[in-house]
Amino acid sequence: MRPAILLLPLLLSLFLPSSAQNCATGQTFSNNRLYARCSSLGRLGATLHWTYHPSNGTADIAYRATQASSNFVAWGINPNGSGMIGANAFFAFHDSSGAVKVISYILPSYTPSVRDSNLSFTVHSRDAEYSNGVYTIYVTVDLPGNKTTLNTAWQAGQVSGGVPVHHATSGDNILSRGSTNFLSGESSENGGGNSRLHRKNLSNHHL
Ligand SMILES: *[C@@H]1O[C@H](CO)[C@@H](O)[C@H](O)[C@H]1NC(C)=O
Ligand SMILES: *[C@@H]1O[C@H](CO)[C@@H](O)[C@H](O)[C@H]1NC(C)=O
Ligand SMILES: *[C@@H]1O[C@H](CO)[C@@H](O)[C@H](O)[C@H]1NC(C)=O
Ligand SMILES: *[C@@H]1O[C@H](CO)[C@@H](O)[C@H](O)[C@H]1NC(C)=O
Ligand SMILES: *[C@@H]1O[C@H](CO)[C@@H](O)[C@H](O)[C@H]1NC(C)=O
Repeated sequence: MRPAILLLPLLLSLFLPSSAQNCATGQTFSNNRLYARCSSLGRLGATLHWTYHPSNGTADIAYRATQASSNFVAWGINPNGSGMIGANAFFAFHDSSGAVKVISYILPSYTPSVRDSNLSFTVHSRDAEYSNGVYTIYVTVDLPGNKTTLNTAWQAGQVSGGVPVHHATSGDNILSRGSTNFLSGESSENGGGNSRLHRKNLSNHHL
């Protein structure tokens, strides 16, 4: 019976629908984190949550996406371009010891050697967790150039030797980019026919 028990979590993660993450499902976050806004990103089962602080130009951000535990998720801001090249990205994955790890990297090419390095803007904090088939990346950053509308990209793919190595190059994996207005909460998705804008008014909460 033991193998069957071990298989169960794997099977559960395989059958989790990729549409499981959206802004309507009342998502909660560890350590009582609350976010003023949410956008269902519409690709790769991902949602973006954030609170923007105009007084100092920082944003508290949570990127959440369904993914098998053996694979990675990533989300980034592309300060001077769009899509993957130039994206200042955060990756969450399980390292070879089985711990959830978050690293950052500026993607220089389509065949990057992903390794932890500094971004072009200040990262005040970063953290990641994995639970019930879902990764969440938590970061607080200075929005680059103090801009409030920024191009963003997100991704999901495979890990090998404890580092993110590859993602599919078709379908949602090449459409997972857009722009986010951190001030108004508007979000547009590149390449998709559906607008999946969702707003959440949590201004009653003390954030
Ligand atoms: C930015 O401002 C917010 C709201 O006043 C504050 O909670 C946060 O600690 C500040 N962040 C930094 C990095 O100073
Ligand atoms: C962004 O603007 C705020 C408010 O004027 C300022 O305090 C902060 O230093 C600026 N951040 C950057 C990265 O320039
Ligand atoms: C983006 O452009 C600004 C000036 O326009 C520059 O200061 C910054 O270093 C550039 N960032 C990257 C990642 O190239
Ligand atoms: C990132 O920048 C900080 C401060 O400038 C530095 O101490 C640290 O070594 C840098 N990290 C990497 C991986 O380059
Ligand atoms: C959000 O709620 C606050 C307080 O209830 C209200 O004043 C504000 O107009 C609302 N904003 C939107 C965009 O609905």
